[in-house]
Amino acid sequence: MIERCHGDTRPQAGPRARTAIVLAAAALLAATGAAFLPGTASAGTTLGASAAEKGRYFGTAVAGFKLSDSAYTTILNREFNMVTAENEMKIDATEPQQNQFSYGAADQIVNHARSRGMSVRGHTLAWHSQQPGWMQNMSGSALRQAMLNHVTQVATHFRGQVVAWDVVNEAFADGSSGGRRDSNLQRTGNDWIEAAFRAADAADPNAKLCYNDYNTDNWTHAKTQGVYNMVRDFKSRGVPIDCVGFQSHFNNDSPYVSNYRTTLSSFAALGVDVQITELDIQGASAATYRSVVEDCLAVARCNGITVWGIRDSDSWRASQTPLLFNSNGSKKPAYDAVLAALNNGTTPPTTAPPTTNPPTTAPPTTAPPTTAPPTTPPPGSGCTATLQDSTRWGDRFNSLVTVSGASNWTVVVAVTPPQKVSNTWNGSPSWDSSGNVMTMRSNGSGNVFGFTTMANGNWSRPQVRSCTAS
Ligand code: XIL
Repeated sequence: MIERCHGDTRPQAGPRARTAIVLAAAALLAATGAAFLPGTASAGTTLGASAAEKGRYFGTAVAGFKLSDSAYTTILNREFNMVTAENEMKIDATEPQQNQFSYGAADQIVNHARSRGMSVRGHTLAWHSQQPGWMQNMSGSALRQAMLNHVTQVATHFRGQVVAWDVVNEAFADGSSGGRRDSNLQRTGNDWIEAAFRAADAADPNAKLCYNDYNTDNWTHAKTQGVYNMVRDFKSRGVPIDCVGFQSHFNNDSPYVSNYRTTLSSFAALGVDVQITELDIQGASAATYRSVVEDCLAVARCNGITVWGIRDSDSWRASQTPLLFNSNGSKKPAYDAVLAALNNGTTPPTTAPPTTNPPTTAPPTTAPPTTAPPTTPPPGSGCTATLQDSTRWGDRFNSLVTVSGASNWTVVVAVTPPQKVSNTWNGSPSWDSSGNVMTMRSNGSGNVFGFTTMANGNWSRPQVRSCTAS
């Protein structure tokens, strides 16, 4: 894995890679049964210990003012081995006046966590939101300089204390554009994101540097593809990025989708770690929480999950009761589902996508085009199926088919010999005698199914033959 490109001539891989080694060592410790972190209880009975057994962490957002609430800290200290400050490391908190830095509340959280063996994710160095007034009023090169100074100062203060930074948060637009969000930072020039990453890298070479965003869970969404293309570009040009955070605030407007695993594995195939950074699920469906955990466990480079608060009453969306503990601190069914999923390890269905198969060191040779020309929909028979190119590796490629107009459907797809479909997900497949024509039936997993085609030298796109509602 080549990640370094800023003139580090030491024979050992550079600082970015050193962090990977440290984390790998921690994972090895965990895998051998040793305690991952002293702050966790016995393996298999808490979120943190169970995640550590799988070489991962389980974290929560922490609000500093709640550290005096013993019911809160009892759960925090028992269950979690990673902490994100919910607000205390944001720009308005750490630099309330220009060049006057204020770290008291953040330091309190960091000290609470680290003294108990928990790790800390830093959140966040550059963001359009929660800016102090002085920054909101800045623009142009003065703002660019102020932003870079902020990144440098804050990353330097916490150097050695945070394992990962959300260097840039929420820089992409919602909707169909797939482009950047307008903001005062964006208006300083499109290169503001990579400038922030380079400044963070210089200030804390050992922290993992992440891009973090929301509504990037659905692989077919333009915003997801926009972020994917940026990360692919950064990796190809050597911009120091190590990880992508998926906030994963799931609710009725932005629900969990079954192609989430495809999203995680596709980003991971670019050569970055992926982390679920702010998980909450409206209504806290146990089945959905389980799916999220299983999706992470199925992707080798998904190395941790953080929920955005402990009890429902701690949530920024408390009325949605989206967390793992009731307001009285008792475990909800979603907690049991998460713990069971962590302890069971990878339990993907037999038709799961090959998320762990593609070599993580080999980024896909082509990106899924953001404007993939859809195949012409076949003649109508109650539904429409649209095929989209997805991740491509050296010997195989993935395709996603989105069905509209029916929830129970049968889609016929043909590949071109000597191509062979090697894997499918989110549907029940059957085959004609040639093995080249696949009939996929809905199986309750939603309206997007996927499959992997072994190219065998032929890279032509599979054809949707028909879509039939049933
Ligand atoms: C939220 C906090 O939970 C709230 O307390 C605060 O009022 C607003 O910010 N995306 C992020 C988080 O990256 O920082 C946000 O946290 C939630 C959405």
